[in-house]
Amino acid sequence: MYFKQGSINVSSNNLKENLILKKLDVSITLDVYDSVEMLPIAIQELMQSAMQARDRAYAPYSSFMVGSSIELANGVIVQGNNQENAAYPSGLCAERVAVFYAGATYPGVAIKNIAITVRSLHHTVLVPTPPCGSCRQALAEYEVNQEEPIKVYFMGETGQVVKANSVKDLLPLIFDSSFLK
Ligand code: THU
Repeated sequence: MYFKQGSINVSSNNLKENLILKKLDVSITLDVYDSVEMLPIAIQELMQSAMQARDRAYAPYSSFMVGSSIELANGVIVQGNNQENAAYPSGLCAERVAVFYAGATYPGVAIKNIAITVRSLHHTVLVPTPPCGSCRQALAEYEVNQEEPIKVYFMGETGQVVKANSVKDLLPLIFDSSFLK
């Protein structure tokens, strides 16, 4: 799939439409489970670890607590949770806390799975809550480098769990270092 955004400039809208080379149909398929109990025991344990991390989150400003647990290829489980800050943008999401800690502590060790769960102090979150765009981008860097897909499991506080078989499924048209060459 090769395409480049054109710089063709014409005044008529109709003409512009006629110049489209082709339409790209980007689709993804995600697996949805009715509850965490439907998942393999190892993934249930990873999600429970994410729940424990979530409940230690430092989220005094949003009251939205996020936990993530990463299973590495060496069997180590790394936890992360969101760390907020009075200077709001200085805070960091749970997923990046976990993946950067993994990268800092176990460089070169592949990431197998990441489990993500949230809890709001205002309401019960039943909707599976996906990682934000910046976290997807951060995770993609590791997936591209390790050349093995990272499976991403995410849920709300309770209820359904969504599984992505690869970070690429959550980030179509991925930007990676190949574009810098
Ligand atoms: N948050 C995460 O930890 N992960 C995400 O993927 C989305 C958002 C955090 C950031 C902030 O502390 C709070 O949730 C509300 O946005």
